Amino acid sequence: MSPAKPSSMTVAPAGLGRVCRVVPDLLEKCFEISYLVKGRTVKTHVVDPSGTKSALGTNDGLLKRLRIPSQPAKGYYPVQLRFDTSSSSKVSAAVEILASQGGIEARGAIFTRAEVVDFILDLVGYTEDRPLFLKRLLEPSCGGGDFLLPAVDRLLAAWQASGNKGSIVDALGGAIRAVELHRRTFAVTRQAVIERVEHEGIALQSATALADMWLMQGDFLLEPPEEQFDFVVGNPPYVRQELIPAPLLAEYRRRYPTMYDRADLYIPFIERSLLMLAVGGNLGFICADRWMKNRYGGPLRSLVAEKFHLKIYVDMVDTPAFDREVIAYPAITIISREKPGATRIAHRPSIDRITLRDLAEELKATSVPSGSTTARELPRITNGTEPWLLESPDQMALIRRLEQQYPTLEEAACKVGIGVATGADKAFIGNFEALDVEPDRKLPLVTTRDILSGEVKWRGQGVINPFTDDGPLVDLRKYPRLRGYLEARKEIIAGRHCAQKAPWNWYRTIDRITPSIAKKQKLLIPDIKGESHVVFEAGELYPHHNLYYVTSEAWDLRALQAVLLSGVTRLFVATYSTKMHGGFLRFQAQYLRRIRVPYWHDVAEGLRKELKEAAKSRDLQACNRAAFKLYGLSREERAALGGNGE
Ligand SMILES: C[S@@+](CC[C@H](N)C(=O)[O-])C[C@H]1O[C@@H](n2cnc3c(N)ncnc32)[C@H](O)[C@@H]1O
Repeated sequence: MSPAKPSSMTVAPAGLGRVCRVVPDLLEKCFEISYLVKGRTVKTHVVDPSGTKSALGTNDGLLKRLRIPSQPAKGYYPVQLRFDTSSSSKVSAAVEILASQGGIEARGAIFTRAEVVDFILDLVGYTEDRPLFLKRLLEPSCGGGDFLLPAVDRLLAAWQASGNKGSIVDALGGAIRAVELHRRTFAVTRQAVIERVEHEGIALQSATALADMWLMQGDFLLEPPEEQFDFVVGNPPYVRQELIPAPLLAEYRRRYPTMYDRADLYIPFIERSLLMLAVGGNLGFICADRWMKNRYGGPLRSLVAEKFHLKIYVDMVDTPAFDREVIAYPAITIISREKPGATRIAHRPSIDRITLRDLAEELKATSVPSGSTTARELPRITNGTEPWLLESPDQMALIRRLEQQYPTLEEAACKVGIGVATGADKAFIGNFEALDVEPDRKLPLVTTRDILSGEVKWRGQGVINPFTDDGPLVDLRKYPRLRGYLEARKEIIAGRHCAQKAPWNWYRTIDRITPSIAKKQKLLIPDIKGESHVVFEAGELYPHHNLYYVTSEAWDLRALQAVLLSGVTRLFVATYSTKMHGGFLRFQAQYLRRIRVPYWHDVAEGLRKELKEAAKSRDLQACNRAAFKLYGLSREERAALGGNGE
């Protein structure tokens, strides 16, 4: 039989796969078909002229090459490729854009300082005194090679020290895998790797072969190397969901259970990387710490709690860990695939080689050196989806005691809420008197600025209320002044995202307004503040967003104000909230709800009075003294809150 004429081959891709290239290979007597597929598992079929299908393979990846024998055996031509996935082309198009154009923000490209990279390599145990050539290391988002190049140095040093004389390509080819999505970055890093290997006296051909075995260009989340690794290190991309193209986000969500709620891209990176760890393997990442306490981190925390050991946590907030200022709250975590156990903890080390080398030794030592001021150990931190509590052991003991003994704020008949977000304050908010609507269609509004002094000093603002008291929006035909007011601002109001999503409700505020809240006495708490800032409001004003409020059917609010101003509340919020730059805490509803208080009926009359007076005088010391009595704090427990225990 004579070989078929390759040029006569026709390739008709059906479905959404895209054929890039068909190259006849006369020597190999085959056609090489390259096609782009992204997303779901894809079945590829070659169909013969009579229509009989012959499945050639199942593929799951980016750029695939298919070899089809050019022997005209049993009528294999023309060829048709079928792809039985519907979203794949959109996903590949999105990846392609990121790979070829994605800007620094969309790809989360932030580079790590060399001292920090060495610290992480030391912490995971990727050190030249070990036979690294027998181990496997993964860098899932290698960027410019900040982790990769030092890892290559360590690997080559370990190899050279071993005196091994065999083929370096055979010996080291499997020792490293590094993935990078961005083509140009990938090309530059590949070249840097080749030069680094050559620099160690290795021939260009071997250096190139090694680089090509080590590095791969693609999306780590879609086409991970299906292998197991002893080490995974890096700085996974930190990319908010809004910046991820919709089809790609949907695909990530489909594949990764941890891509939950508003999870950032680094979350599925951690999931995928953890699952690729060999038994006993160590993962060392520097990335945002938000997932350790917040809602979207729940499923990932649960995965870690179930199957891994959170070995080391180093808080890197406010340290110059990266090559430029970034708005992130970084932490280093070392997580191993081994039985869960205690966690070593350090905070904000100074970024110099000696400090970090010594700290790595302390964090890895069999036991924390007694009297260490830099490292400490906490027993089991991970617990299902619960936030990780990384504070000091005596503070944790106090929190645990209070949690066992007292109900939560809401169980004790207090309610936590957030003020109204309108989506267009310019249109919905104005001088209360001047707002030209029916009197029952506006409410006096209290904002963060009104409570700066610690007391309410109302500046006369008001908010439009488009809702009836029992729920739905009012009928504008019944409120001609409101209608005129809204129509005059329609462009802004109807242009809001929420209005565009539901045009028939174009004049609703983002949050529903419940006028009865204005009439209740309440405590107002602004979102970001270093200290508890809790202000009593007598029941006249409606809270603006950025203000949380607490109302209660049982507790006297003045007495509760003293409790919320005390160090005990601060400890609860500090323990459960994610911290901001400069040590600021976030007094958000979810953290306020964690606070424990006794039932009001259990508070003795004398103490009730003491709490109320402390709050009225805004004397923080007096609030602390009364709150300490309320919770029956021991001297040690008082000391755990700071100060001298008095
Ligand atoms: C934070 S940088 C880290 C770079 C490197 N680890 C370092 O410290 O130098 C993240 C890198 O991940 C790459 N990246 C983003 N999304 C990716 C993906 N889905 N798969 C692989 N790499 C990706 C970006 O292009 C960027 O270079």
